[in-house]
Amino acid sequence: MSLQKYLDNLDDLLGKKILITGGTSGIGLSIVDQLLYKHADVVVLARNPNKSKEVKDRMLEKYPDCHLGFISYDQSDYKSIEHAATAILEEHKDFYALILNAGCFTTYKTQKIEGDMSLTIKTNFAGLAYFLDILIPNLNNKHRIIFQGSLAAGYYFKKPSDLYKYKVSSFQQYCMSKAGVEEIYNHYRSLGLKNLSFYLVEPGLTSTDILRDFPFPIKQLGSLFLKVASHSVKKASLTALLALQENVRSCYIVPRSPFTWRGYPKIKPFPKKRNRPYLYDLVKETFKKEN
Ligand SMILES: NC(=O)c1ccc[n+]([C@@H]2O[C@H](COP(=O)([O-])OP(=O)(O)OC[C@H]3O[C@@H](n4cnc5c(N)ncnc54)[C@H](OP(=O)(O)O)[C@@H]3O)[C@@H](O)[C@H]2O)c1
Repeated sequence: MSLQKYLDNLDDLLGKKILITGGTSGIGLSIVDQLLYKHADVVVLARNPNKSKEVKDRMLEKYPDCHLGFISYDQSDYKSIEHAATAILEEHKDFYALILNAGCFTTYKTQKIEGDMSLTIKTNFAGLAYFLDILIPNLNNKHRIIFQGSLAAGYYFKKPSDLYKYKVSSFQQYCMSKAGVEEIYNHYRSLGLKNLSFYLVEPGLTSTDILRDFPFPIKQLGSLFLKVASHSVKKASLTALLALQENVRSCYIVPRSPFTWRGYPKIKPFPKKRNRPYLYDLVKETFKKEN
């Protein structure tokens, strides 16, 4: 089946408001494009106003009647997260789904260090957990919460005693941060909240600019590997799109090829050996320290 046909077979999203973090580049931008194609009312939570404007102009040119709004949101900054959560609760409490796509993969040497926590862990894991800690207790309507996971979470082997003392390679930090995303998903789905359904989706290997902070030649080699081994951002977006279907409820969605690297989406059980509740407990401790 062609990608276009696959997309056309999915539910139309007219009248549904969908919020998405990190919708100004890569997979997130492609999800925004597909949501607008499906007539959704889209609100992007993004950190860079210039990029937001560029995306708005581009999408308005492609979909002149689209509904597309923006909220300022930096997932590595607790104050910005608080403002964005307040804006959602005041102006967008009627949303149908929230897609938690924002994420980064920074180098250990060049990244900004917050306290002693790496920017990768702070953004992908701590910031995300903090955002939901504010938002979720205040949601009363029915909503879908969709987490952008990664197969990298399966490569996280170490058990740190403290997120701040975690000084290992950038790759292990990224893997830990995505294992953290999985654990936030596991935490909330275990609460049995009646009004909310939770989805963990993986995009597969995708050629984006996620290695932008890496120095030569790692960036070039990594990008080349992603180009050769990966699938397109359009296909990578489909796992999140599938999680928006009325007949799909609370599940784990991955690309269907062996090792879940690429391909059209499939639903599968979440692997039990990847349950790591100590990660969620650790990150909650960091809020208490910092706020
Ligand atoms: N590429 C892959 O192979 C792959 C595989 C598995 C999972 N993923 C996951 O997919 C998601 C998207 O990644 P991508 O590959 O599309 O990379 P990308 O092109 O770098 O996109 C990342 C998005 O997250 C946003 N972001 C980064 N830091 C942020 C912060 N502090 N606050 C708010 N937004 C922030 C970026 O904003 P700007 O536009 O302002 O830079 C961008 O929109 C990530 O969660 C990543 O972990 C990617």
